[in-house]
Amino acid sequence: MKKIWRRGMPFSPEVAPLVSRMPAVDEYRESLLRLQGVWDSLSMLGQMSGTLPDIGATRAAFQSLSEDLLDSLGRTLLANVEQRMRSQAQVAIDILVRNLFERTADIGFLSTDSQLREAVRASKSAEGIDAASLRALQARFAEYAAKYTVYDDVIALAPDGRVLARLDDSIDACATGREPWLAQALQGAPYVEHFGDSALMGGRRALLYAAAIRVDERIEGVLCLSFRFDDEMRAIFSQLLEPRDRSVIVLSDARGAVLASSDPWQVPVGAPLPAAAQRGHQLARFAGREYLLVHAAATGYEGYKGQGWSAHALVPVDQAFDTAELQDAATAATDADDLLARLDTRELFGEALRTIPTQARHIQRDLSRVLWNGRLRPAGEGTSNAFAATLLREVGQTGERIRQVFEQAIANLHRSTLNAVFDEARHHARLAIDIVDRNLYERANDCRWWALDGVLRGVLSQPAGQRDAARAAAVLQRIAGTEDARLKEIMASLVTHLHDFVREVKLTEDEWRAGIDFLTDTGRKCDATRQEFILLSDTLGVSMLTIALNHAKPEGATEATVFGPFHTQDAPRVELGADIAGDAPGLPMFVHACVRGLDGEPIANADVDVWQADEDGLYDVQRPELGDRRRARAVLRTDAQGCVRFRSVVPTAYPIPTDGPVGKMLVATGRHPWRPAHLHFMIRAAGYQTLITHLFRNPDPYLDSDVVFGVRSSLVGDYVEHPPGRGLDGSAIDTTFYTLAHTFILPKAR
Ligand code: BEZ
Ligand code: FE
Repeated sequence: MKKIWRRGMPFSPEVAPLVSRMPAVDEYRESLLRLQGVWDSLSMLGQMSGTLPDIGATRAAFQSLSEDLLDSLGRTLLANVEQRMRSQAQVAIDILVRNLFERTADIGFLSTDSQLREAVRASKSAEGIDAASLRALQARFAEYAAKYTVYDDVIALAPDGRVLARLDDSIDACATGREPWLAQALQGAPYVEHFGDSALMGGRRALLYAAAIRVDERIEGVLCLSFRFDDEMRAIFSQLLEPRDRSVIVLSDARGAVLASSDPWQVPVGAPLPAAAQRGHQLARFAGREYLLVHAAATGYEGYKGQGWSAHALVPVDQAFDTAELQDAATAATDADDLLARLDTRELFGEALRTIPTQARHIQRDLSRVLWNGRLRPAGEGTSNAFAATLLREVGQTGERIRQVFEQAIANLHRSTLNAVFDEARHHARLAIDIVDRNLYERANDCRWWALDGVLRGVLSQPAGQRDAARAAAVLQRIAGTEDARLKEIMASLVTHLHDFVREVKLTEDEWRAGIDFLTDTGRKCDATRQEFILLSDTLGVSMLTIALNHAKPEGATEATVFGPFHTQDAPRVELGADIAGDAPGLPMFVHACVRGLDGEPIANADVDVWQADEDGLYDVQRPELGDRRRARAVLRTDAQGCVRFRSVVPTAYPIPTDGPVGKMLVATGRHPWRPAHLHFMIRAAGYQTLITHLFRNPDPYLDSDVVFGVRSSLVGDYVEHPPGRGLDGSAIDTTFYTLAHTFILPKAR
């Protein structure tokens, strides 16, 4: 890198403009130049008297090493100062952002405060909020501000910007409704953060946090918290600046305007800062004084970065590299050498700083050798041996002094660097402890605050039973805003009954878990052909209850019952009189069914869909060996008299599927899985209500204990047993057979 000459020495470009402000560099520079001057004189004397060997090479080596030393010295001092300033600025902005993040949470939960919402509700009523409630609300705000000391005002506003209540009523607020942050809060943003002059604060600059107040899920007002911005900034600054610290720490907005300053006399609020450099330092002038400036952007917390604000540390250039710091370092860190000896300093010190002492020693050794050789040389004419010896000794001592200057400079630098590292560690530790402190302090406040919450206090003052009921009430309040009125009714009732149920049985957590597992297994059992949830509903009697409620029939109409899982869409359509059983096993049965309206009118052209289990209690779909082949099911169309005839097999009782969670439930509750024998019917006729029902067979051992509660006495069919003989279709039957005749009555469609 190209060097820039300053005061007779070459320096790196970033150091060159600052060298004149670095007394330490200057001091060593002068010592070295002085010693080199002495050496040059000695060398000249030696050459003139012919007594001294050529020490030019050693001189050049010392010169080059001096240049390296001074440049390294300058760069290290600058890096140390920059690092200290950066950690100050970083800690300042990070503490602030963390603090403001908490504020965004405060406004969210305080806006849901029960007492506040009640007051806003009252303010909407014809009588408005009464004086006593207003005072109570102000007292509540005062309680809050006392716990969360970072606020100087708490304000409840009506949607039009009118102040409903505020903690500090000495402020004359006017025309607040026009401010855009209020409109944003009224749109329901989780929080709104506003920094600037506000009419609400009597025109002064304020940092405000706002959120909507919802009453019955509607936005009926806005709560606003005014953050003690200036006080909090002062506290942060004073925490970061030690008494002798010459830094100024400032906070700036995204455009670089100063918002807060640790020393407004040096850097005033409102002053513009130069656009931030990504790395390193900048130079800036304030009130005619030149400053070194280092910038730090917010690290951000949980995705929150504040309003694009950043912090800057500034130090007057003429004080930034004060030697006092180096001297302090030398004395304060008495253990520093010890520590340095044990540390791996490769990361701390650059290559140059680490190798300079060794190089200096090597040059010194070479010099000794040259001088030793010189001693062997005879003195020149007219020159005494004593003169030559003195000269040689002087040169040797000067070389030794130069080496000492090197060592001292390096030692001091090491200590200064170590100090900078300690400084940074101290700052980080301070940030960490501050965050922990604040966090715990705020949590303690949260706890104390919630303990004062109206709902909680109300609930706790009730006997245990009512307390639980209040818990359900809290859930009900949450869903009170459901727009679909029917959904709201259903959800409210479900919650109430679920809570009542849990309370009544005093449900343990293990039982709750078992219930969740049971429902999960029920879901897992479902697929395209298996609906375990409907089976569960059936076996709990819920399907039948729903049917009874929704298909309440007028007097005389045929009752409905469960649909069941075994209907298919692809039953064959057959002619009247057909044998629908196919090769299904079972005793023959002849069915004659008529369909009529409530007035007794025959319903012609009605579709009669019929399906049933065979003698083994199995539906065709339950027999994998049949594949897609259908039997013991069909669709027939009623004739002009409204009747259908068909032959089939007599149904038998069968168990519902028990290989899933419903089966387990039946076992666990000591229930059998059986359905009494039945024929399924679905009858659809234009202009009439569709009927889904069964015709049960009597006698049957399960008529009184149908596992799905589907039996209705009106649905017990007239199954008549016959000895072998002629069937209704005239065919010869060599086994017992059955006949079944029934009339279904359908009400007109609604
Ligand atoms: C059925 O009759 O097909 C049935 C009804 C409800 C559950 C299981 C089966
Ligand atoms: Fe069935």
